Amino acid sequence: MLDVQNLSVEYKIQGGVLRAVDGVSFTLKRAESLGIVGESGCGKSTIAKALLQLLPKNGKISGGHVFFDGDDLVGKSAEEIRKMRQKRIALVSQSAMNSLNPVHTVGKQIIEAIRCHSRMSVKEAYARAVEVFSMVGLEEKRLRSFPHQLSGGMKQRAIIAMALSLEPDIIIADEPTTALDVVVQGRILQRIQKIHKEISSSMIFITHDISVVSEVCETIMVMYGGRVMEIADTDSFFRAPYHPYSLGLQNAFPSITEIGREELVSIPGSPPNLSEPQEGCRFHVRCPFATETCRIQEPPLEKVRDDHYSACWYNDKVESFRREAGKRDTWESVRKRIEEQILREDAHEEIEHEEIKGAGR
Ligand SMILES: Nc1ncnc2c1ncn2[C@@H]1O[C@H](COP(=O)(O)OP(=O)(O)OP(=O)(O)O)[C@@H](O)[C@H]1O
Ligand SMILES: [Mg+2]
Repeated sequence: MLDVQNLSVEYKIQGGVLRAVDGVSFTLKRAESLGIVGESGCGKSTIAKALLQLLPKNGKISGGHVFFDGDDLVGKSAEEIRKMRQKRIALVSQSAMNSLNPVHTVGKQIIEAIRCHSRMSVKEAYARAVEVFSMVGLEEKRLRSFPHQLSGGMKQRAIIAMALSLEPDIIIADEPTTALDVVVQGRILQRIQKIHKEISSSMIFITHDISVVSEVCETIMVMYGGRVMEIADTDSFFRAPYHPYSLGLQNAFPSITEIGREELVSIPGSPPNLSEPQEGCRFHVRCPFATETCRIQEPPLEKVRDDHYSACWYNDKVESFRREAGKRDTWESVRKRIEEQILREDAHEEIEHEEIKGAGR
Protein backbone atom coordinates (compact mmCIF):
# COMPACT_ATOMS: atom_id res chain seq x y z
CA MET A 1 0.00 0.00 0.00
CA LEU A 2 2.83 2.38 0.89
CA ASP A 3 6.12 2.09 -0.94
CA VAL A 4 8.76 4.58 0.17
CA GLN A 5 11.81 4.64 -2.06
CA ASN A 6 15.04 6.43 -1.26
CA LEU A 7 13.33 9.22 0.61
CA SER A 8 15.55 12.15 1.56
CA VAL A 9 14.46 15.23 3.45
CA GLU A 10 16.44 18.39 4.07
CA TYR A 11 15.91 21.39 6.31
CA LYS A 12 17.39 24.73 5.44
CA ILE A 13 19.19 26.03 8.52
CA GLN A 14 21.39 28.99 9.24
CA GLY A 15 24.56 28.54 7.24
CA GLY A 16 23.55 25.44 5.32
CA VAL A 17 21.30 22.43 5.12
CA LEU A 18 20.56 19.62 7.52
CA ARG A 19 19.80 16.26 5.93
CA ALA A 20 17.37 14.78 8.45
CA VAL A 21 16.39 11.75 6.36
CA ASP A 22 18.85 10.24 3.93
CA GLY A 23 17.83 7.61 1.39
CA VAL A 24 15.24 5.75 3.47
CA SER A 25 13.22 2.94 1.85
CA PHE A 26 10.49 0.74 3.28
CA THR A 27 7.13 -0.73 2.38
CA LEU A 28 3.94 -1.07 4.33
CA LYS A 29 1.36 -3.66 3.39
CA ARG A 30 -2.35 -3.42 4.05
CA ALA A 31 -3.13 -4.09 7.73
CA GLU A 32 0.58 -4.28 8.53
CA SER A 33 2.10 -2.39 11.43
CA LEU A 34 5.60 -0.92 11.16
CA GLY A 35 7.56 0.46 14.10
CA ILE A 36 10.17 3.16 13.53
CA VAL A 37 12.65 3.47 16.39
CA GLY A 38 15.78 5.44 17.14
CA GLU A 39 17.10 8.13 19.45
CA SER A 40 15.89 11.69 19.45
CA GLY A 41 16.79 13.56 16.27
CA CYS A 42 17.27 10.52 14.01
CA GLY A 43 14.52 11.66 11.64
CA LYS A 44 11.44 9.70 12.75
CA SER A 45 8.99 12.61 12.87
CA THR A 46 10.49 14.04 9.70
CA ILE A 47 9.54 10.84 7.87
CA ALA A 48 5.98 11.13 9.19
CA LYS A 49 5.73 14.77 8.16
CA ALA A 50 7.21 14.05 4.75
CA LEU A 51 4.69 11.26 4.11
CA LEU A 52 1.89 13.71 4.84
CA GLN A 53 3.61 16.70 3.21
CA LEU A 54 3.41 18.48 6.52
CA LEU A 55 7.02 19.63 6.53
CA PRO A 56 7.65 23.15 7.82
CA LYS A 57 8.57 25.90 5.35
CA ASN A 58 12.30 25.32 5.64
CA GLY A 59 11.93 21.57 5.01
CA LYS A 60 11.65 19.79 1.68
CA ILE A 61 11.76 16.32 0.18
CA SER A 62 15.05 16.44 -1.68
CA GLY A 63 14.81 13.03 -3.28
CA GLY A 64 12.91 9.79 -3.59
CA HIS A 65 9.34 8.66 -3.98
CA VAL A 66 6.38 7.88 -1.77
CA PHE A 67 3.99 5.60 -3.62
CA PHE A 68 0.61 5.34 -1.96
CA ASP A 69 -1.59 2.79 -3.69
CA GLY A 70 0.59 3.25 -6.75
CA ASP A 71 0.38 7.08 -6.83
CA ASP A 72 3.53 9.09 -6.11
CA LEU A 73 2.72 11.60 -3.36
CA VAL A 74 5.93 13.48 -4.04
CA GLY A 75 5.05 16.29 -6.39
CA LYS A 76 1.33 16.34 -5.56
CA SER A 77 -0.16 19.72 -4.73
CA ALA A 78 -0.80 20.73 -1.14
CA GLU A 79 -4.53 20.77 -1.88
CA GLU A 80 -4.58 17.19 -3.21
CA ILE A 81 -2.62 16.00 -0.20
CA ARG A 82 -4.84 17.81 2.26
CA LYS A 83 -7.94 16.13 0.89
CA MET A 84 -6.35 12.76 1.08
CA ARG A 85 -4.64 13.22 4.37
CA GLN A 86 -7.19 12.77 7.09
CA LYS A 87 -9.39 10.44 5.19
CA ARG A 88 -6.74 7.99 4.08
CA ILE A 89 -3.71 8.72 6.26
CA ALA A 90 -4.31 9.88 9.80
CA LEU A 91 -1.64 11.29 12.08
CA VAL A 92 -1.66 11.06 15.85
CA SER A 93 1.29 13.19 16.77
CA GLN A 94 3.65 13.76 19.68
CA SER A 95 1.84 16.92 20.68
CA ALA A 96 -1.67 15.89 19.59
CA MET A 97 -3.08 16.20 23.09
CA ASN A 98 -2.61 19.95 22.90
CA SER A 99 -4.30 20.18 19.52
CA LEU A 100 -7.81 19.87 20.96
CA ASN A 101 -9.65 23.17 20.93
CA PRO A 102 -10.27 24.23 24.56
CA VAL A 103 -13.49 26.15 23.85
CA HIS A 104 -15.46 23.27 22.29
CA THR A 105 -16.51 19.91 23.67
CA VAL A 106 -14.54 16.98 22.29
CA GLY A 107 -17.80 15.63 20.86
CA LYS A 108 -18.36 18.74 18.79
CA GLN A 109 -14.81 18.57 17.49
CA ILE A 110 -14.97 14.94 16.51
CA ILE A 111 -18.37 15.32 14.82
CA GLU A 112 -17.09 18.28 12.85
CA ALA A 113 -14.02 16.32 11.77
CA ILE A 114 -16.19 13.41 10.62
CA ARG A 115 -18.61 15.65 8.71
CA CYS A 116 -15.77 17.57 7.13
CA HIS A 117 -14.64 14.38 5.42
CA SER A 118 -17.90 12.61 4.72
CA ARG A 119 -21.52 13.24 3.86
CA MET A 120 -22.82 12.02 7.19
CA SER A 121 -25.63 13.88 8.91
CA VAL A 122 -25.03 15.19 12.41
CA LYS A 123 -26.95 12.21 13.79
CA GLU A 124 -24.88 9.68 11.84
CA ALA A 125 -21.67 11.45 12.79
CA TYR A 126 -22.72 11.36 16.45
CA ALA A 127 -23.34 7.62 16.24
CA ARG A 128 -19.93 7.17 14.66
CA ALA A 129 -18.32 9.28 17.40
CA VAL A 130 -19.93 7.09 20.07
CA GLU A 131 -18.65 4.01 18.28
CA VAL A 132 -15.02 5.17 18.05
CA PHE A 133 -15.13 6.47 21.61
CA SER A 134 -16.12 3.04 22.81
CA MET A 135 -13.28 1.53 20.76
CA VAL A 136 -10.76 3.57 22.73
CA GLY A 137 -12.60 2.90 25.98
CA LEU A 138 -14.29 6.27 26.48
CA GLU A 139 -17.91 6.50 27.58
CA GLU A 140 -20.49 8.31 25.48
CA LYS A 141 -20.92 11.01 28.12
CA ARG A 142 -17.31 12.04 27.57
CA LEU A 143 -18.36 13.51 24.22
CA ARG A 144 -19.92 16.33 26.23
CA SER A 145 -16.67 17.09 28.08
CA PHE A 146 -14.39 19.99 27.34
CA PRO A 147 -10.71 19.09 26.91
CA HIS A 148 -9.74 20.47 30.34
CA GLN A 149 -12.23 18.08 31.96
CA LEU A 150 -10.32 15.07 30.65
CA SER A 151 -7.12 13.51 31.98
CA GLY A 152 -4.06 13.33 29.73
CA GLY A 153 -4.75 9.70 28.87
CA MET A 154 -8.39 10.44 28.03
CA LYS A 155 -7.40 13.36 25.81
CA GLN A 156 -4.94 11.19 23.96
CA ARG A 157 -7.60 8.50 23.52
CA ALA A 158 -10.02 11.12 22.21
CA ILE A 159 -7.41 12.14 19.64
CA ILE A 160 -6.90 8.52 18.63
CA ALA A 161 -10.69 8.14 18.34
CA MET A 162 -10.78 11.17 16.09
CA ALA A 163 -8.12 9.66 13.85
CA LEU A 164 -10.02 6.35 13.75
CA SER A 165 -13.38 7.91 13.03
CA LEU A 166 -12.52 8.31 9.35
CA GLU A 167 -11.35 4.71 8.96
CA PRO A 168 -8.04 5.73 7.46
CA ASP A 169 -5.97 3.31 5.40
CA ILE A 170 -2.89 4.24 7.38
CA ILE A 171 -2.56 5.52 10.93
CA ILE A 172 0.73 7.21 11.74
CA ALA A 173 1.20 7.34 15.49
CA ASP A 174 4.19 9.53 16.37
CA GLU A 175 5.10 8.85 20.01
CA PRO A 176 1.40 8.91 20.88
CA THR A 177 1.94 8.05 24.52
CA THR A 178 5.23 9.67 25.55
CA ALA A 179 3.52 12.46 27.47
CA LEU A 180 1.62 9.96 29.63
CA ASP A 181 2.59 7.95 32.67
CA VAL A 182 3.78 4.40 32.16
CA VAL A 183 0.62 2.62 33.31
CA VAL A 184 -1.62 4.73 31.07
CA GLN A 185 0.86 4.29 28.22
CA GLY A 186 0.61 0.53 28.53
CA ARG A 187 -3.18 0.58 28.48
CA ILE A 188 -3.33 2.85 25.44
CA LEU A 189 -0.81 0.72 23.59
CA GLN A 190 -2.95 -2.36 24.22
CA ARG A 191 -5.94 -0.50 22.84
CA ILE A 192 -4.08 0.69 19.76
CA GLN A 193 -2.94 -2.85 19.09
CA LYS A 194 -6.47 -4.21 19.46
CA ILE A 195 -8.01 -1.52 17.27
CA HIS A 196 -5.34 -1.97 14.63
CA LYS A 197 -6.35 -5.62 14.38
CA GLU A 198 -10.09 -4.84 14.42
CA ILE A 199 -10.20 -2.27 11.67
CA SER A 200 -7.32 -3.69 9.62
CA SER A 201 -5.79 -0.34 8.79
CA SER A 202 -2.03 -0.18 8.40
CA MET A 203 -0.01 1.55 11.05
CA ILE A 204 3.31 3.32 11.39
CA PHE A 205 4.23 3.49 15.04
CA ILE A 206 7.02 5.89 15.95
CA THR A 207 8.84 5.59 19.26
CA HIS A 208 12.26 5.88 20.85
CA ASP A 209 11.46 2.95 23.15
CA ILE A 210 12.35 -0.24 21.37
CA SER A 211 10.50 -2.45 23.85
CA VAL A 212 7.17 -0.88 22.87
CA VAL A 213 7.58 -2.00 19.26
CA SER A 214 7.86 -5.63 20.23
CA GLU A 215 4.32 -5.47 21.58
CA VAL A 216 2.66 -3.47 18.84
CA CYS A 217 4.38 -4.00 15.48
CA GLU A 218 5.08 -6.76 12.96
CA THR A 219 8.01 -4.99 11.33
CA ILE A 220 10.66 -2.83 12.93
CA MET A 221 12.88 -0.22 11.34
CA VAL A 222 15.81 1.08 13.37
CA MET A 223 17.07 4.50 12.34
CA TYR A 224 20.23 6.35 13.20
CA GLY A 225 21.29 9.78 11.95
CA GLY A 226 18.71 9.81 9.17
CA ARG A 227 19.60 6.34 7.86
CA VAL A 228 18.09 2.88 8.25
CA MET A 229 20.45 0.68 10.28
CA GLU A 230 18.27 -2.40 10.46
CA ILE A 231 14.85 -3.41 9.21
CA ALA A 232 13.27 -6.72 10.06
CA ASP A 233 10.33 -8.83 10.96
CA THR A 234 9.79 -8.01 14.65
CA ASP A 235 10.01 -11.64 15.82
CA SER A 236 13.25 -12.17 13.97
CA PHE A 237 14.62 -8.86 15.26
CA PHE A 238 13.91 -9.51 18.92
CA ARG A 239 15.14 -13.07 18.71
CA ALA A 240 18.35 -12.09 16.97
CA PRO A 241 19.16 -8.42 16.34
CA TYR A 242 22.19 -7.74 14.13
CA HIS A 243 23.22 -4.12 14.13
CA PRO A 244 25.48 -2.96 16.99
CA TYR A 245 23.23 0.09 17.36
CA SER A 246 20.21 -2.17 17.82
CA LEU A 247 22.14 -4.18 20.39
CA GLY A 248 22.88 -0.95 22.24
CA LEU A 249 19.24 0.16 22.09
CA GLN A 250 18.10 -3.15 23.49
CA ASN A 251 20.32 -2.61 26.52
CA ALA A 252 18.95 0.86 26.98
CA PHE A 253 15.32 -0.29 26.81
CA PRO A 254 15.15 -3.86 28.11
CA SER A 255 11.82 -5.53 27.47
CA ILE A 256 9.29 -5.26 30.26
CA THR A 257 8.83 -9.01 30.02
CA GLU A 258 12.49 -9.75 30.71
CA ILE A 259 12.43 -9.19 34.43
CA GLY A 260 15.67 -9.60 36.29
CA ARG A 261 17.89 -8.46 33.46
CA GLU A 262 20.95 -6.43 34.35
CA GLU A 263 20.57 -2.68 34.78
CA LEU A 264 20.11 -0.29 31.88
CA VAL A 265 23.19 0.69 29.92
CA SER A 266 22.78 3.68 27.68
CA ILE A 267 24.89 4.09 24.55
CA PRO A 268 27.67 6.58 25.32
CA GLY A 269 28.15 9.65 23.12
CA SER A 270 25.60 11.41 20.98
CA PRO A 271 24.21 11.12 17.44
CA PRO A 272 26.05 12.78 14.54
CA ASN A 273 25.51 16.39 13.57
CA LEU A 274 23.45 16.05 10.42
CA SER A 275 24.32 19.49 9.13
CA GLU A 276 27.86 18.23 8.53
CA PRO A 277 28.84 15.81 5.74
CA GLN A 278 28.82 12.22 6.98
CA GLU A 279 31.63 9.76 6.35
CA GLY A 280 31.63 6.02 6.89
CA CYS A 281 29.03 4.29 9.04
CA ARG A 282 27.07 6.91 10.94
CA PHE A 283 27.29 4.89 14.12
CA HIS A 284 31.07 4.26 14.04
CA VAL A 285 31.97 6.88 16.67
CA ARG A 286 29.77 5.15 19.27
CA CYS A 287 30.18 1.58 18.07
CA PRO A 288 32.23 -0.74 20.29
CA PHE A 289 33.18 -2.85 17.27
CA ALA A 290 34.05 -0.17 14.70
CA THR A 291 37.16 -0.56 12.55
CA GLU A 292 39.01 1.67 10.10
CA THR A 293 36.67 0.46 7.33
CA CYS A 294 33.63 1.66 9.29
CA ARG A 295 35.22 5.10 9.62
CA ILE A 296 35.72 5.45 5.88
CA GLN A 297 33.02 3.49 4.10
CA GLU A 298 29.31 3.40 4.70
CA PRO A 299 27.96 -0.15 4.83
CA PRO A 300 24.96 -1.01 2.63
CA LEU A 301 21.78 -2.54 4.02
CA GLU A 302 22.44 -6.25 3.59
CA LYS A 303 20.09 -9.19 3.82
CA VAL A 304 21.00 -11.33 6.84
CA ARG A 305 17.94 -13.61 7.00
CA ASP A 306 14.50 -13.73 5.42
CA ASP A 307 12.79 -10.36 6.00
CA HIS A 308 15.79 -9.10 7.91
CA TYR A 309 18.37 -6.51 6.76
CA SER A 310 21.24 -4.87 8.60
CA ALA A 311 23.67 -2.12 7.51
CA CYS A 312 26.89 -3.29 9.15
CA TRP A 313 30.20 -4.42 7.58
CA TYR A 314 30.42 -7.17 10.17
CA ASN A 315 27.05 -8.88 10.09
CA ASP A 316 28.92 -12.19 10.08
CA LYS A 317 30.42 -11.44 13.50
CA VAL A 318 27.09 -10.83 15.14
CA GLU A 319 27.30 -13.79 17.56
CA SER A 320 30.33 -12.36 19.31
CA PHE A 321 28.89 -8.81 19.09
CA ARG A 322 25.77 -9.97 20.90
CA ARG A 323 27.84 -11.48 23.70
CA GLU A 324 30.02 -8.38 24.03
CA ALA A 325 27.12 -5.92 23.80
CA GLY A 326 25.54 -7.48 26.89
CA LYS A 327 28.54 -6.45 29.01
CA ARG A 328 28.79 -3.08 30.69
CA ASP A 329 32.55 -2.94 30.05
CA THR A 330 32.03 -2.98 26.32
CA TRP A 331 30.13 0.30 26.41
CA GLU A 332 32.35 1.69 29.14
CA SER A 333 35.32 1.39 26.78
CA VAL A 334 33.37 3.33 24.14
CA ARG A 335 32.76 6.06 26.68
CA LYS A 336 36.49 6.23 27.47
CA ARG A 337 37.36 6.30 23.77
CA ILE A 338 34.97 9.19 23.13
CA GLU A 339 36.25 11.13 26.14
CA GLU A 340 39.86 10.69 25.02
CA GLN A 341 38.93 11.86 21.54
CA ILE A 342 37.34 15.01 22.96
CA LEU A 343 40.44 15.70 25.08
CA ARG A 344 42.65 15.26 22.01
CA GLU A 345 40.50 17.65 20.00
CA ASP A 346 40.59 20.22 22.80
CA ALA A 347 44.36 19.95 23.03
CA HIS A 348 44.64 20.30 19.27
CA GLU A 349 42.50 23.41 19.33
CA GLU A 350 44.60 24.90 22.09
CA ILE A 351 47.79 24.34 20.10
CA GLU A 352 46.23 25.98 17.06
CA HIS A 353 45.10 28.85 19.21
CA GLU A 354 48.63 29.28 20.57
CA GLU A 355 50.04 29.18 17.05
CA ILE A 356 47.67 31.89 15.89
CA LYS A 357 48.57 34.00 18.90
CA GLY A 358 52.29 33.35 18.21
CA ALA A 359 51.96 34.34 14.57
CA GLY A 360 50.20 37.53 15.58
CA ARG A 361 53.02 38.61 17.84
N1 LIG B 1 12.04 22.61 11.38
C1 LIG B 1 13.28 22.17 11.45
N2 LIG B 1 14.32 22.95 11.04
C2 LIG B 1 15.60 22.51 11.09
N3 LIG B 1 15.95 21.29 11.53
C3 LIG B 1 14.98 20.47 11.95
C4 LIG B 1 13.59 20.86 11.93
N4 LIG B 1 12.85 19.84 12.42
C5 LIG B 1 13.71 18.86 12.72
N5 LIG B 1 14.99 19.21 12.44
C6 LIG B 1 16.20 18.40 12.60
O1 LIG B 1 16.03 17.23 11.84
C7 LIG B 1 16.57 16.10 12.53
C8 LIG B 1 15.47 15.05 12.67
O2 LIG B 1 14.45 15.56 13.51
P1 LIG B 1 13.12 14.74 13.85
O3 LIG B 1 12.23 15.63 14.60
O4 LIG B 1 12.62 14.12 12.59
O5 LIG B 1 13.70 13.60 14.79
P2 LIG B 1 12.93 12.53 15.68
O6 LIG B 1 13.60 11.23 15.40
O7 LIG B 1 11.47 12.63 15.47
O8 LIG B 1 13.31 13.00 17.15
P3 LIG B 1 12.44 12.92 18.51
O9 LIG B 1 12.58 11.53 19.02
O10 LIG B 1 13.12 13.92 19.39
O11 LIG B 1 11.02 13.30 18.19
C9 LIG B 1 17.12 16.62 13.84
O12 LIG B 1 18.50 16.82 13.69
C10 LIG B 1 16.39 17.93 14.03
O13 LIG B 1 17.18 18.83 14.75
MG1 LIG C 1 9.83 13.08 16.72
